[in-house]
Amino acid sequence: MHQAERSCTHAGGHLRVRLLREEELSSRDHHRISSLLVEAFPHAAQLFSRQSWRGPRPDRRLLLEGGDGELLAHLDYVIRPIQVADATVEVAGVGEVAVRQGARGRGLGKRLMQELKAALHREPVDFGLLYCLESVAGFYERVGWTRVHQPSRFISPETGQWMEASYPTFILPVRAPLEAWPGEGVIDLGGMIW
Ligand SMILES: CC(C)(COP(=O)(O)OP(=O)(O)OC[C@H]1O[C@@H](n2cnc3c(N)ncnc32)[C@H](O)[C@@H]1OP(=O)(O)O)[C@@H](O)C(=O)NCCC(=O)NCCS
Repeated sequence: MHQAERSCTHAGGHLRVRLLREEELSSRDHHRISSLLVEAFPHAAQLFSRQSWRGPRPDRRLLLEGGDGELLAHLDYVIRPIQVADATVEVAGVGEVAVRQGARGRGLGKRLMQELKAALHREPVDFGLLYCLESVAGFYERVGWTRVHQPSRFISPETGQWMEASYPTFILPVRAPLEAWPGEGVIDLGGMIW
């Protein structure tokens, strides 16, 4: 899949939807994404001022831009087989979900997640998988993700060490039905968390 671009409207305004492979990002794109992520995740400002992702390098970026070209919203995902209990599951690990501060509360986050759903249906993945803070868990519930209660095992990007933790965890069925998710056992990411 190569860069896909579409223009549409959102709440009466012009919106440009861009889905890019990581290698298609320009340095201007990286710069603008970094600036959005610094604003959205102030506790990680040091990291995001240096680079526009955390953990493994993403495979895809989804960008929503306003009529004036301003970057309004962003997410990325990495495509990876993971192990859940005894099953291998192909997932899109979604991260760096962010809406520009002044543009929040107007349905752009929801729109971003709708565009993600459409994009994932063109990828070879069974489920979307994401981790979040408790303070935004309600958002993912509102936009149709399903919470699971299983610990995850992964390499921490900060320490390089394997660890196990129980963060708020959400899945989205893509090619597999929701019932196909192995609902018990450890979610082993097989590498760095996104
Ligand atoms: C979380 C975030 C992406 C939401 O974007 P947004 O554009 O404000 O969300 P929307 O306006 O599309 O809201 C969609 C729905 O989710 C609800 N919602 C939004 N944020 C919520 C939250 N933190 N908790 C509970 N519900 C929330 C809205 O009320 C709305 O509900 P409705 O459908 O009943 O009207 C945005 O607040 C943000 O970028 N936050 C900072 C970065 C961050 O925490 N990202 C998540 C990392 S895991």
